[in-house]
Amino acid sequence: MESNRQATARAHPNIAFIKYWGNIDDDLRLPANPSLSMNLDGLHAETTVTWRDDLAADQLTLHGQVEGGAALERVSTHLERLRERLGLRNHADVVSTNNFPMGAGIASSAAAFAALTVAAVGAAGAAISERELTTLARLGSGSASRSVPGGFVAWRMSATHTDSYAESIAPPDHWDLVDVIAVVSQAHKAVGSTQGHRSAATSDLQAARVAGAEARLAQCQQAILSRDFAALADVVEHDSNLMHAIMMTSRPPLFYWLPPTLTIMAAVRAWRTEGLQVCYTLDAGPNVHCICVRSDAERVSERLRALSGVVDVRVAAPGAGAVIVRSS
Ligand code: DP6
Repeated sequence: MESNRQATARAHPNIAFIKYWGNIDDDLRLPANPSLSMNLDGLHAETTVTWRDDLAADQLTLHGQVEGGAALERVSTHLERLRERLGLRNHADVVSTNNFPMGAGIASSAAAFAALTVAAVGAAGAAISERELTTLARLGSGSASRSVPGGFVAWRMSATHTDSYAESIAPPDHWDLVDVIAVVSQAHKAVGSTQGHRSAATSDLQAARVAGAEARLAQCQQAILSRDFAALADVVEHDSNLMHAIMMTSRPPLFYWLPPTLTIMAAVRAWRTEGLQVCYTLDAGPNVHCICVRSDAERVSERLRALSGVVDVRVAAPGAGAVIVRSS
């Protein structure tokens, strides 16, 4: 390989309709259940990786700030696995920016590790299939596997690394859905997803949630393919409630909701009975992702803005997969 090859990749975060919560193997991030998500256009991580022959260690710059500690360690651990796969010995200079707040229920690690993986492989000039890229991204952050392919994406479960991959089930333009995100807090969450996954099995309810996940994913996939909003709303809210029930009944318990979170969830259900095509889903944070059809997005945004406790509203359409935007 030539020295100092560089590539920049861009990846979107995703919102899970069927949630990933708990692993059968934490080290390889082999999930306890399959999951399904939609990439979020307009929000992205952009990451430049340069494999350099003059570095004694990996280095990470986030938003112009040189990072050490846990952030660098997680990135470097991931780079170590990529080095192994790529047959590289060089260390990497990683420079990344996000255009959305981190740590508040808009899964920043998904976009970050998808962009990092695609940039690192691109900078090495390696030809690796999309399927394998999803498995590599998964090692850095489980949900990152779903940010590699475009549009609506399913992440299959398996007991082996190579078979736990993600694939697109429909392109971004398949269905004009919109995620209207009601931001109620921009604070960094106290307990991150990685720690949460490790505690999922301490809930008596996790086994039941996992047992039904395949069937919910099938219902969700069918609802997307047939653009059946009522069916989608039913399974998406149910699956989100199930995951939060696990969180609340884990030991120690995890409560991600804030008072406005519950207000918004109740409002969304009421709006749906009034005829708006909208449903809610929440990741590991207090912000509420209101999934709706495009024609109702404006009304949903206005109503959310009028609720007390909503500090911001962001709107995201289905997004593309991770791409290389520059390389040299
Ligand atoms: C609640 O992918 O962030 O957003 O693999 O430890 O990085 P790590 O966890 P992460 O977990 C995401 C959890 C979730 C649900 C989901 O996106 O499916």
